[in-house]
Amino acid sequence: MGEKIILTGDRPTGKLHIGHYVGSLRNRVELQNSGEYDKIYIMIADSQALTDNFDNPAKIHDNLLQVALDDLAAGLDPKKMTLFIQSEVPELTEMTFYFMNLVTLSRLERNPTVKNEIQLRGFNNSIPVGFLNYPVSQTSDIVAFKATTVPVGEDQEPMLEQAREIVRRFNMIYGETLVEPEILLSKNKASMRLPGTDGKNKMSKSIGNCIYLADDPDTIREKVMSMYTDPDHLRVEDPGKIEGNTVFTYLDAFCKPEYFQEFLPDYQNLDELKAHYQRGGLGDVKVKRFLNDVMQETLRPIRERREDLAKNLDYVFQVLKEGTETARQVAAQTMDEMKTAMKINYFKDADFLDDFREKNHLK
Ligand code: TRP
Repeated sequence: MGEKIILTGDRPTGKLHIGHYVGSLRNRVELQNSGEYDKIYIMIADSQALTDNFDNPAKIHDNLLQVALDDLAAGLDPKKMTLFIQSEVPELTEMTFYFMNLVTLSRLERNPTVKNEIQLRGFNNSIPVGFLNYPVSQTSDIVAFKATTVPVGEDQEPMLEQAREIVRRFNMIYGETLVEPEILLSKNKASMRLPGTDGKNKMSKSIGNCIYLADDPDTIREKVMSMYTDPDHLRVEDPGKIEGNTVFTYLDAFCKPEYFQEFLPDYQNLDELKAHYQRGGLGDVKVKRFLNDVMQETLRPIRERREDLAKNLDYVFQVLKEGTETARQVAAQTMDEMKTAMKINYFKDADFLDDFREKNHLK
C-alpha cells in the first residue's frame, strides 16, 4: 500500500462560519488526529479565489489570515499538517498549463458546479477563461501532492471527477506518473449542507445568515434566538415540525449526548426532545436556549484559540511561510517527474545530447 495523503483547502473570501466547520473543518481536524494519514496538506486557495474576484484583490488580501486563523483555531496543528498559500507555489500554475492540453472546452462547460457558479456570478456570456478553467487548476492542487484523499463537500464532486480524468489521460499519454485521488464526503448528514440562520438558504456572507467561528458570545446568542423555526408553531401547546426547522438541524449537527445532562436534564437525548416538540407543549424559546448553550460550548474553545493566535500573528505568518516552503518542495518534485514524463526536462536529462546526436548521425 502506498502513502495516504490528504489535500484540501478553502478560498479566502471571508471568515469561515459554522457551515464550513461542520461541513469540512471539523472533519479535517478529526482526520488529522486519526493518525491514519501519512501527510496532510491544507491549502489557502487564494489564486482560485481570484478567478472570480480578480477585480477585488483587497478581498483576498484581507481574508487570507482570517482563514489561516480559522484553520488553526479549529484545531489544525502545524506539527501534524502543512498549511500553505496556493499562489506561493508557482509549480501549481505550471502544471495547470500542461493539464489544459488534456481537457476540452466542452468538458469544462459541462461541469455542473461551475455552471451554477457562472449563473450566480452573472458571468453568462462573458465567462473569464481563468474561471472556467479553475477545475483544471484544482487538479494541479491535488496531484502536485500526490493526494489520495480529498475531503470536501458534495459540490466538489465534479472537480474530483475532472481531476481523475486528467490524471488518467496524463498517465496514459506520458506514462504512469500521477496518483488518482478519491473524494471523501462527510458522514454526518446534517453536516453536509447546514442552512443559514434564516432557514432558507445555505450559509452565505452576502445574505447575512451566518454564524462565524470568530463571533462573540452575545452575537451567537442573538443569532440563535432569532433563528428560523417552524412558522406554524405559534403557541407552546401546538405540535411542531422538525423537518426544515433550523434549530433542530443545528442540534443534529452540533449536539452531543452529554449536553443534555449539563444544560437540559429533563431530557435524555435529542430524540426525546424532538418527540416532545412534535407532540406539542415545548416552546421554541426553550429549544433555542438549549441550542445556544450547545453552540457556546462548541465555539468557545475555537474562539479563545483564535483570539490567542490573533495576538501572535508573527507565529501564524511563520507557520504559513514554513508550510508553503514544504509544499513548494513537494510540488516541485512532482513537476519534475511530470517534465521527465513529458520529455521536456532537458537540463536534467543526461541523455539529451547523445540522443540528438544519435538521431541525427552526429559524432
Ligand atoms: N474549490 C474549493 C472550494 O471552493 C477550494 C479548493 C481549491 C480545493 N483547490 C482545492 C479543495 C483542492 C480541495 C482540493 O472550497
